[in-house]
Amino acid sequence: MIKNRLIGPFTQLLTMNNIPLKGSLNDNQLEIIPGGGIVVCEGKIVKVGNFDLLGDEFGDRNTIIDYIDSDMVVIPGMIDPHTHLCWAGSRANDYALRLAGKSYLEIAQGGGGIGDTVEKTRVATFADLEASLTGRAKTYLRNGVTTIEVKSGYCLNKEGELKLLEVIGKVNKKLSVDLIPTCLAAHIKPADFHGSQADYLESIVNELLPEIRAKKLANRIDIYIDKGAFTAAEALVYLNRAKNLGFDLVIHGDQFTEGGVAVASELGALSVDHLETMNDQEIKLLAASDVIPIVLPGSSLGLGGRFAPARKLLDAGCSLAIGSDWNPGSAPMGDLLLQTALLGIFEKMTMAESLAGITFRAARALNLTDRGVLSVGMLADMAGFPVADYREIIYHQGSLDPSVVWKRGERQ
Ligand code: NIG
Ligand code: FE
Repeated sequence: MIKNRLIGPFTQLLTMNNIPLKGSLNDNQLEIIPGGGIVVCEGKIVKVGNFDLLGDEFGDRNTIIDYIDSDMVVIPGMIDPHTHLCWAGSRANDYALRLAGKSYLEIAQGGGGIGDTVEKTRVATFADLEASLTGRAKTYLRNGVTTIEVKSGYCLNKEGELKLLEVIGKVNKKLSVDLIPTCLAAHIKPADFHGSQADYLESIVNELLPEIRAKKLANRIDIYIDKGAFTAAEALVYLNRAKNLGFDLVIHGDQFTEGGVAVASELGALSVDHLETMNDQEIKLLAASDVIPIVLPGSSLGLGGRFAPARKLLDAGCSLAIGSDWNPGSAPMGDLLLQTALLGIFEKMTMAESLAGITFRAARALNLTDRGVLSVGMLADMAGFPVADYREIIYHQGSLDPSVVWKRGERQ
């Protein structure tokens, strides 16, 4: 007989239930259950409510009690909707150059940047990449991040991009944390490709994407639209082809130059990510679309640049998810909660907006409807923090770690 698991009591259980997908949020929109409990069966939530009442209802021989004997606030497991976790090497040299005043683009043109990581990642073995990705994913799980989007994009040739997606697939199977793979072969045109930008994109469409589809390695395609990467016009052609092959679309847009938002809205991308340079017109366009903006404070912190206009986006009626962008170049930190807290204080985001951005709204940005909320039928992915008031989580600016993390109802 399959057993239920009753988890609790939690001083506060923050469900993130009934939060609208779009627009600004007040903290009083948060559903908080004091003395809450959760009943889980086969990894999914069966019931949410008062722990004592749930005990009366479920406390029989078929229920295992996972008892919490001290103050704890539980929230849905955090979701990072944008990372580049699969790489080799270090870009500490880039960082030193940035500290000395060089820009991201200057460093890339001088032999650092994405191209440098591509060189290191191409020669890394499958085992090395698997080990480093495993380490990063485990760190994240300990920190309460239970779903992580992971992009390829550091090999930029057919065999290498397949290698990266296969590593991501293998680590996803091996660990309890969920990795959501995205093909970012259109990160930049690699130095050893002899042809135009358009030729390179065409070669991805013809040679790589069919294989990714056949091997079911990813169903999401990303492209970097920017100076030194691809133009909006090139991206439109590429993404249309990918869309016709059945892929979901996401875009790195408006990091240093405007233009990514229009492409995202025209093609109905799931998300457009970065947005540090976006203008007011683009904010309006985004608000009128279903595209979810994903802002990446870790990249602003890693580059010493401005934050994306999170407050303006929310006030205009947009949704807003927050990703770490964890990568060796622009965002080496890899701490989603810390970055969310810092974005919040500078952009004046409410606790509700901040927490929604790394739970419910982040799930939706990944087109996932089975997580990010603690309600019946959802995955029992949860992060429990050793405090009595949910506001302590953001208040501690990332220095408060969860004391217990559950993935599909199992303690990690
Ligand atoms: O999201 N800007 C494009 N891609 C990454 C950075 C990759 C890198 O610098 O290695 C980003 O910031
Ligand atoms: Fe990125």
